[in-house]
Amino acid sequence: MNYRHGYHAGNFADVLKHTALCELLRLLTAKDKKLFVLDTHAGAGGYALGEGPARRTGEAEAGIARLVAAPRAGMPSAVVRYLAAVAAYDRKFGPAADALRRYPGSPRLVRAALRPGDRFIACELHPAEALALKREFAGDRAVEVRQADGYKVLKALLPPPERRGLVLIDPPFETQDEFERLLRALRQGVRRFATGCYALWYPIKDEAAAAFAGELAAFKPLILELHLATVEPGKLAASALAVVNPPWRFEEAMREALPWIADRLGTGVRAAVFAPPANAPAPASSA
Ligand SMILES: C[S@@+](CC[C@H](N)C(=O)[O-])C[C@H]1O[C@@H](n2cnc3c(N)ncnc32)[C@H](O)[C@@H]1O
Repeated sequence: MNYRHGYHAGNFADVLKHTALCELLRLLTAKDKKLFVLDTHAGAGGYALGEGPARRTGEAEAGIARLVAAPRAGMPSAVVRYLAAVAAYDRKFGPAADALRRYPGSPRLVRAALRPGDRFIACELHPAEALALKREFAGDRAVEVRQADGYKVLKALLPPPERRGLVLIDPPFETQDEFERLLRALRQGVRRFATGCYALWYPIKDEAAAAFAGELAAFKPLILELHLATVEPGKLAASALAVVNPPWRFEEAMREALPWIADRLGTGVRAAVFAPPANAPAPASSA
């Protein structure tokens, strides 16, 4: 387990995943019914941008920093809300400044959307990251942090008594079998909790991602993709979020937000929003 999300916090993949996550949370908390949220691979919760690993890679400069610098005119409302959540987290560390000091990981974005009575469990397996996550939410009774294998917790906790839930599965893809584990987790989840909303992040590096999208087709997901224009050796150039059972109006919001984000991230960056046809390879791009 060498992966540390701090090196990638706020990069283009986080921008896609977290814009979608904020919108899912907004739509799922619009109804006056309790919600259960499970973040199976939660990371450290929040990340310094101006120092340490994030500064070393500079990935946030080509991601969240470009959106923060973009003019607000014409900005899709899902992006406005995502940036508001990012800024609100940063302001916990001092008055608003020109550059973001810290970037919220998925648990922080979930926490910001929770209402009294909602339930949130964040799992992180790596001891140091789990400790950081526990510190991030020390004294906060609304968040249950578990140092545990998120796949096992998913199996144990579904279906939730609330009968309404969002499950984010965001693994590090360090092992060859991660696509298989992800698919197995989704199958187990849906078998136990068919009406839950599942958001699965994955990298697009080779034909494995298209094959995975084909396998997912049976679950009728909405797939969101962001493709950078240039592929730097050893770096991720495209990533996706597959959302099973998205709430009403989520697709509409993503069709508006993602092409706008792609334009702000740079020339030639492409977004795609599509439902994969059963057992057919997913398209490379179509906004
Ligand atoms: C991509 S990062 C998570 C980022 C986070 N979801 C966010 O959006 O801010 C993946 C995390 O999963 C952790 N991890 C790896 N295997 C795990 C497992 N089986 N269960 C829980 N966490 C795991 C890694 O240590 C890493 O911190």
